[in-house]
Amino acid sequence: MPNKNLYHAPVLAAEILDHLITEKTQVFFDGTLGLGGHAQYLLENVPHLEAYIGCDLDQQHLDFARDRLAPWSDKLELHLGNFSSFDDWVDFGSRTVSVLLDLGLCSNHVDDPAKGFSFQQEGPLHMAFSNDATENAEALLADSSQAELTHIFKEYGEEPGAHKISRRIIEARQHQPLRTTRELVELIESSVHPKDRKKAVTRVFQALRIAVNDELGHLEKALQDAVENMHPADRLGIITYHSLEDRVVKKFFKLHSKPKTEATDFSLHTVVAPAAFKLLTKKPILPSDQEITDNPRARSAKLRIVEKC
Ligand SMILES: C[S@@+](CC[C@H](N)C(=O)[O-])C[C@H]1O[C@@H](n2cnc3c(N)ncnc32)[C@H](O)[C@@H]1O
Repeated sequence: MPNKNLYHAPVLAAEILDHLITEKTQVFFDGTLGLGGHAQYLLENVPHLEAYIGCDLDQQHLDFARDRLAPWSDKLELHLGNFSSFDDWVDFGSRTVSVLLDLGLCSNHVDDPAKGFSFQQEGPLHMAFSNDATENAEALLADSSQAELTHIFKEYGEEPGAHKISRRIIEARQHQPLRTTRELVELIESSVHPKDRKKAVTRVFQALRIAVNDELGHLEKALQDAVENMHPADRLGIITYHSLEDRVVKKFFKLHSKPKTEATDFSLHTVVAPAAFKLLTKKPILPSDQEITDNPRARSAKLRIVEKC
């Protein structure tokens, strides 16, 4: 169980309250419930919310949040699952909904060596948000070809030494399978220049986590479902923590905040469909210096918000 002392303030909570929720919002869907930090803050501060629907892939987080949010149990509906299935749980159109995705992992994930996210503590090569996921980092490292591993480290970690690292992994696994985070760290460190070691380890761990959980695939599906299912006045806010996921969100929001045009015989830009979203954040909302001092995890956070037209 996550340690109660560890749960820190939710990231950009006041900004979410100010920009993602309006007096019309009746239902809040929290796709990354985690330890329930945003949930507690919003339930305390928005008494007019009629329902708070949350989901998480991690059963422990869900159990912890359910306990923490017991005072609001009459408004609470929690699901174990992926936020990319949110249209199964949210009845868009019947009430005004705000959706929040606070992407990535919790500090609790990094602190628990058994989850395999930490390169500072020895643990199994798990790295899946879901405890019973069939896909995990150990299987990925054992079964992927060198080209696939290079692709993962380049695409999801932007790691310049991707090719060398994947070659070392293939060589090493011919003798024995990679089983622990420590073994992987040693392999990465032995593949790159000593001055690049820390960055390489960080990037490869990030890349494996993204690949194991298909993080960008689920984000893209959720965005597509949002544009198709949300109704006017519904809002969608996404907090990203690295440039890959921020790029996906920024591009999608920009594309769908403009009318769709097509070139015809009569005009170069005939509007064929109005914009689906109104972009409420031309620039992302960033944490204040004070928030970063109080909660260093917030330092790379970017919040972007749209409203359905
Ligand atoms: C940054 S934490 C959220 C913290 C939370 N907002 C709070 O205030 O406590 C991200 C959470 O989302 C979960 N998660 C990540 N990707 C997910 C996905 N695709 N579907 C459902 N949950 C996901 C993780 O297990 C983790 O608990």
